[in-house]
Amino acid sequence: LGGGPLAGKRVLVTSGPTHEPIDPVRYIANRSSGAQGAALGAALAGLGAEVVFVTGPADVPPPAGVQVVKVQTAQQMLQAVQAALPCDVAVFAAAVADWRVASASDRKLKKTKDGMPKLEFAENPDILATVSQMTEGRPGLIVGFAAETNDVIAHATAKRKRKGCDWIVANDVSPETGIMGGSENAVHLISDTGVEDWPRMGKDAVAQKLAARIAAALS
Ligand code: C5P
Repeated sequence: LGGGPLAGKRVLVTSGPTHEPIDPVRYIANRSSGAQGAALGAALAGLGAEVVFVTGPADVPPPAGVQVVKVQTAQQMLQAVQAALPCDVAVFAAAVADWRVASASDRKLKKTKDGMPKLEFAENPDILATVSQMTEGRPGLIVGFAAETNDVIAHATAKRKRKGCDWIVANDVSPETGIMGGSENAVHLISDTGVEDWPRMGKDAVAQKLAARIAAALS
């Protein structure tokens, strides 16, 4: 049996973007690479946790030593998350699409002389909020992420309250930071006790620091 401070703990991690189909060959997505989520999965497994890693179509491969569940859409991700419960800790690092195309076509949309297709959108489930607001079987520690381009702390603090998670890891994803798709991250850890500013460091280092904090919170 493996040791480590998270031995015997079941940890759920969501990672990567989601793809929301327009038709069988087209989709709406975002620029998440899945790098921070993969680093977190690896770090948590490295501390001995049993990790269920629910991932959208990411650029980086899932880490070794975790149970991988691959999904495409936000709705599929919610289902996979619910199927993975109960767990001790849940970390929601996925960049879930807020909207999906309301009625994706089952045939490829064709060019017509009548003009362009009009896409209508429907709101996706908020997976983090759904799990945070569970009245029975809620994970003991829930960590959300908040990628912002302005007023990072204010938006993330409000988000923590609105969604009902315990911690929020907030970061600035303005293009000039090079964080989205890059190998470094500069985050703020927001909890009920306040805000901690972490220096800019590699995504692996952020993951290790966060995994250590999670282990400390559980002990
Ligand atoms: O509201 P926003 O998308 O910025 O919130 C980010 C946090 O919420 C992340 O932890 C993300 O994984 C989670 N989230 C989610 N389901 C959604 C939207 C966001 O789990 N539909």
